[in-house]
Amino acid sequence: MKILGIDIGGSALKGAPVDLATGRLLGERCRIETPKVVTPAAMAKHAAEIAQHFKWRGPIGVGFPGVIHGSHILSSANLHRKFIGCEGGKLFAQATKCPVTLTNDAAAAALAEMRFGAGRNFKGKTLLLTLGTGIGSSLCYHGLVVPCEFGHLQIKGKSAERFVSAAARKRRDLSWAKWGKELGEYIRSLEQILWPELIIIGGGVSAKSRKFFPYLKTRARVVPAKFLNEAGIVGAALSFNRHG
Ligand code: BGC
Repeated sequence: MKILGIDIGGSALKGAPVDLATGRLLGERCRIETPKVVTPAAMAKHAAEIAQHFKWRGPIGVGFPGVIHGSHILSSANLHRKFIGCEGGKLFAQATKCPVTLTNDAAAAALAEMRFGAGRNFKGKTLLLTLGTGIGSSLCYHGLVVPCEFGHLQIKGKSAERFVSAAARKRRDLSWAKWGKELGEYIRSLEQILWPELIIIGGGVSAKSRKFFPYLKTRARVVPAKFLNEAGIVGAALSFNRHG
């Protein structure tokens, strides 16, 4: 079965058809850069452009960087505020004229990593963190994936992602060592309450894991995501119709 996966991120939309049996992209991904201010209607148009690019007429899985309940978007920390309260599933389905399932982006990434990537065949408690514009998070256990919002754990009255996301490292102009230590502190505080057996770090920055993994000093084993930045597309496709 083939499903078009679309990953909506803080700076771009990315999509490609995915073979669900292997988790492989069936063609080069299509990427559209987006300014932060893009409205839900404009974003839906971009999603339709991706569908048109692949001449797509089948099911689509969309990963979105916010809390998703049913097909509704409840939060939008790094995108337009107008997404909050919007029925995203319907919006993208109308724009693309295809059936759409909407999922949290980190939950999508976790599905891909647990099925085909760094967590393959591992059934124990796994924490997946994606480090990008924000911090995405999911807990996985025996094949189950639970979307979480650990990027909004409060540090000095602000969301942790403001200090330790990959974007925060650049914005704060931190060395890998300094950022790695702060990120380690944050992850260790999550370990105190979650006690994962495995931690998977995703997002584009996971390609540079050698630069910061030595500073994390976590109890659990930490590994980079296998799909690096493509987990969102593969997982969005895998999530199609998982929740009805
Ligand atoms: C959002 C999460 C999302 C994460 C990564 C956070 O700001 O609240 O839902 O998974 O960013 O995109």
